[in-house]
Amino acid sequence: MRTPLNISTDLSLDLEEVIGQCIAILGIRGSGKSNTAGVIFEELLKHNYPLSIVDIDGEYFGLKEKFEVLVVGTGDGVEIEVDVDCAEEIAAISMEKNVPVVLDLSGFLSEERNAFLQEYLTALWNLAGKLRRPYIVGIEEAHEFIPQGTKTELKELIARIALRGRKRGLGAIIVSQRSAKVEKDVLSQAGILFLHRVVHEADMRVYSEILPWRKSEVKELITSLATGDCVYVNGDTVLPIYVRERETFHAGFTPSLEVVVTPQLKQVSQSIIEAIEHAKQGKGKKTRLDTLRDKITRLEAKLAERDKKIEQLEEIAHTLGYIKVEVPPPSLPDVQQISKAIVHSVESPAGMRPATTPAPRPIDQLDSENADPTAVIDIDQAPPLGDGHLPAAVVRHIDRIAARVAHRGVLERRILAFLVAHAPLAYSVEQIAAWTDCARGVIENSPPREFLEMGLLVRERRTTGTHYRSSLKAFVSREFGLYQPDIGPRELHAIIQLLRTRILARGDSALIAL
Ligand SMILES: Nc1ncnc2c1ncn2[C@@H]1O[C@H](COP(=O)(O)OP(=O)(O)O)[C@@H](O)[C@H]1O
Ligand SMILES: [Mg+2]
Repeated sequence: MRTPLNISTDLSLDLEEVIGQCIAILGIRGSGKSNTAGVIFEELLKHNYPLSIVDIDGEYFGLKEKFEVLVVGTGDGVEIEVDVDCAEEIAAISMEKNVPVVLDLSGFLSEERNAFLQEYLTALWNLAGKLRRPYIVGIEEAHEFIPQGTKTELKELIARIALRGRKRGLGAIIVSQRSAKVEKDVLSQAGILFLHRVVHEADMRVYSEILPWRKSEVKELITSLATGDCVYVNGDTVLPIYVRERETFHAGFTPSLEVVVTPQLKQVSQSIIEAIEHAKQGKGKKTRLDTLRDKITRLEAKLAERDKKIEQLEEIAHTLGYIKVEVPPPSLPDVQQISKAIVHSVESPAGMRPATTPAPRPIDQLDSENADPTAVIDIDQAPPLGDGHLPAAVVRHIDRIAARVAHRGVLERRILAFLVAHAPLAYSVEQIAAWTDCARGVIENSPPREFLEMGLLVRERRTTGTHYRSSLKAFVSREFGLYQPDIGPRELHAIIQLLRTRILARGDSALIAL
């Protein structure tokens, strides 16, 4: 029996053909990819075809206007906030109970997002091996997860689904604006393609390899495609089509002057919500214990800090014959305000040099952030822009990162602010201790773990001891690379400046809080 899908009036495609397929939807931003993906999801949902959508821009919660879809993750439209600890359970609920899921990962940093997906897709892969039922995973901005060239576990997992998922009934819908940057092995597995407009030569070459036409013909046709138009490829069928508009609310629509009202959304059944809350609670208990452990560590560190401070003051009194009390200035420490003798006395005797103006030199030089292999974008070229020029999604992401910084403890924020203010130099724990007016032991006992994990700071073990430096630039390149080509070096520079300002402000408030 045929079950036709209503994707385009120019096209006849049956549900049965989609089972276990790898479908690729390519094209530049604004060409209509997400709409096409949304239309396919709508058609699958109409037929209760189980699926998951990996949504990193918060674009798909509008499917709930018509369908009972569970939206979980960390973005604005989620029903239940979850993190990586629940990923496996959610995958199991989705596949076993046939619950369509939108994973809104827009609020995660890239590493957390990858960790979540790794868990989630592994669970789907394993379950699909047992259940062997039709299931499909949609992945937006796929070039982020399956980039051409580099090798990661997550990429191998997605490639495996695309290459070998068919036998398990597991399919994939790969959406990307950077055709040339998506792993070729995965693209070559796509049995069905929707090729929207592209402009870059490299992307055009990818299309030329797929389409059975001369390069000049490909270019002429592809550049003439309007929003929603694409070339549909399925085996020998190659067909220019217009994809219908989504019936459900498209949160990623290009803003216009018309007032848009977010629609009434359908809820998934209470028992599913409860099952997920249950999974969360299991995890919550662990977290509570961890929280208490953290608290003890913090209190111990505080105690050690006091002891150390007393020790330091005694040492200074002994060395200099007097105690000089410095009132911390309301901004980051400036070397001229601290007596050299005091700085010298708190440094280790092992031949460390006293700090010099305008910033203390690191013991050994020089860890330019440009040397970081992840910092692929040259951000130094252009003058900064205000945040008014940045896309709203980027500004939201900056806000989320700043909020995360704000949630950390006073000491961590001061260390971060100090290192960001003095980037790209690396500093020893002794130097940081002197500059942040804090005992060395405290920093050793409570290193700025969260910022290290986020990738805002880098720790280096040297023969002269542990050093830290800011990696804000590499962090921004990595975290915001996703928004390219909408943002370029100028915008990345502006993002760095904005984050820097906010981190320094957080450092100031940390200082006042001391
Ligand atoms: N087939 C279509 N018909 C009408 N409007 C469309 C169609 N496809 C996309 N659009 C509109 O064009 C804009 C960009 O579409 P979108 O799917 O978000 O593009 P992309 O995902 O490629 O960036 C949106 O405002 C969307 O509503
Ligand atoms: Mg899109």
